[in-house]
Amino acid sequence: MAEALNFTYQALPMRVVFGAGSVASLPDEVSRLGLRRVLVLSTPEQEDTASRVAAALGDHVAGVHAKARMHVPVEVAAEARQVATDLGADGCVAVGGGSTIGLGKAIALEYGLPIVAVPTTYAGSEMTPVWGLTEGGQKRTGRDSRVLPHAVVYDPELTVSLPTGLSATSGINAIAHAVEALYAPDASPIISLMAEEGARALASALPSVVAAPEDIEARGEALYGSWLCGSCLGATTMSLHHKLCHALGGSFDLPHAETHTVVLPYALAYNAPAALPAVAALNRALGSGDPARALFELTGRLGAPRSLRALGFPADGIERVVEQVTATPYANPRAVTPDGVRELLRSALDGTPPVG
Ligand SMILES: [Fe+2]
Repeated sequence: MAEALNFTYQALPMRVVFGAGSVASLPDEVSRLGLRRVLVLSTPEQEDTASRVAAALGDHVAGVHAKARMHVPVEVAAEARQVATDLGADGCVAVGGGSTIGLGKAIALEYGLPIVAVPTTYAGSEMTPVWGLTEGGQKRTGRDSRVLPHAVVYDPELTVSLPTGLSATSGINAIAHAVEALYAPDASPIISLMAEEGARALASALPSVVAAPEDIEARGEALYGSWLCGSCLGATTMSLHHKLCHALGGSFDLPHAETHTVVLPYALAYNAPAALPAVAALNRALGSGDPARALFELTGRLGAPRSLRALGFPADGIERVVEQVTATPYANPRAVTPDGVRELLRSALDGTPPVG
């Protein structure tokens, strides 16, 4: 190791149950927490999955509330809190991705009801104490230990219905957490191990998931990778890649996982010269000599979008993003300059192979 070790690491209290069929352990998991009447949350699209989970929970269920929505609008959160109160729920089981787990967090933030998360995407929100609420188009976020799920049940069988396109982009979005954790200002050795292994597992599993969406072994490896990558997100501060995606998503309404998928190879190529240990870890994980190029090629193999133009981003939007991303300083391995960001965005707009 080139540099002397110097780090702070704080473990997040969390119980994880992993395995095909592990939804059957939910009654035990909620009982361990002393819960008797849980409210099962999901989006309207995932109501069937939520009902399956509710059936597994048996008489521990107070009800199913299938009204989660993207970005957790405050009125959606208020309604869910009311439903939880009316039903006398003492906890929530959040079945889904960021939207549903975000709704569980909104209830926990106000009432302190413990969350058991049952993730069905690779977003990783279940491993973080970060909450978000949207009001009047503005998203507020914060960290609060009350919103960290008490237990997470990862059952790969619940992910077989995740469409292949979304599996690919949600998976690359998860890898982005590993990438930025490796060069984070608050990186630590244990998180770097998780990041490397998480990126390896996802990069290895995603082509099989896309080729055979019902392959439980591949689904299991992808979900395992997303758990590790989610842990990285919960433990570290994200940098340039996330600033870029936040600006692109917020100002141009670009789709979340697709935007992260397109931007990641370019953000990594930009930071690579100033983040050599991260590059070495990612090369081990991806079996490559150039991780930015390897991620770009992986994205292509998965049939996922590779240019911002394909997502509907206009060329004349570049300056607005450059302004937003360079307006206030933040930790990033390489200095974030207007010229550098402009060039990065031009390449990402066209989808030309990233050059580190
Ligand atoms: Fe993210």
